[in-house]
Amino acid sequence: MEVLKFAVLNLRNMAESLFVPKTADREKIYDELAPQISALVEGETDLVANLANITAALKEAFGFFWVGFYVKKESQLVLSAFQGTIACTRIDFDKGVCGHSYTTKQIVIVPNVEEFPGHIACSSASKSEIVLPVFDKDGDVVMVLDVDSDKLDDFSETDAEGLRRIVKIIEDLL
Ligand code: SME
Repeated sequence: MEVLKFAVLNLRNMAESLFVPKTADREKIYDELAPQISALVEGETDLVANLANITAALKEAFGFFWVGFYVKKESQLVLSAFQGTIACTRIDFDKGVCGHSYTTKQIVIVPNVEEFPGHIACSSASKSEIVLPVFDKDGDVVMVLDVDSDKLDDFSETDAEGLRRIVKIIEDLL
């Protein structure tokens, strides 16, 4: 019987797996991840495809409970690419941590979501959260990156700086 052998070709010549150092030091992981994410989105013009891969890379690298983007559409933030459990699809600008980040244009770290007034609980497993605004070239917020953890107080300035580096890669695509 003839055996057919197939070679798996990667037409974009990109790595098919991430290299994530085995360490609990998140700064080291962000240092390794940022250039890999730059390479991942290089040459791809479809924004949702890039956002989808970025959420997958962040989830794989850190094991976060939920990672995703909410994109500004008319007068709301609407769920876009994400990795994790099913989530709320629309958030008003004046609601939740995402809305707060959108309106204040600030990175928001919430150590305990139960103590954040107006927090939107898409999942009861989510205990702490960080949200970063993503700016277009005019300085307007066009989407937010939302990362949730199932542990209390899981985000620090290291995550704010590391995730800001990832957000900058997206901003350069806009
Ligand atoms: N907790 C967010 C809503 C989105 S989910 O966490 C996926 C908020 O309060 O804006």
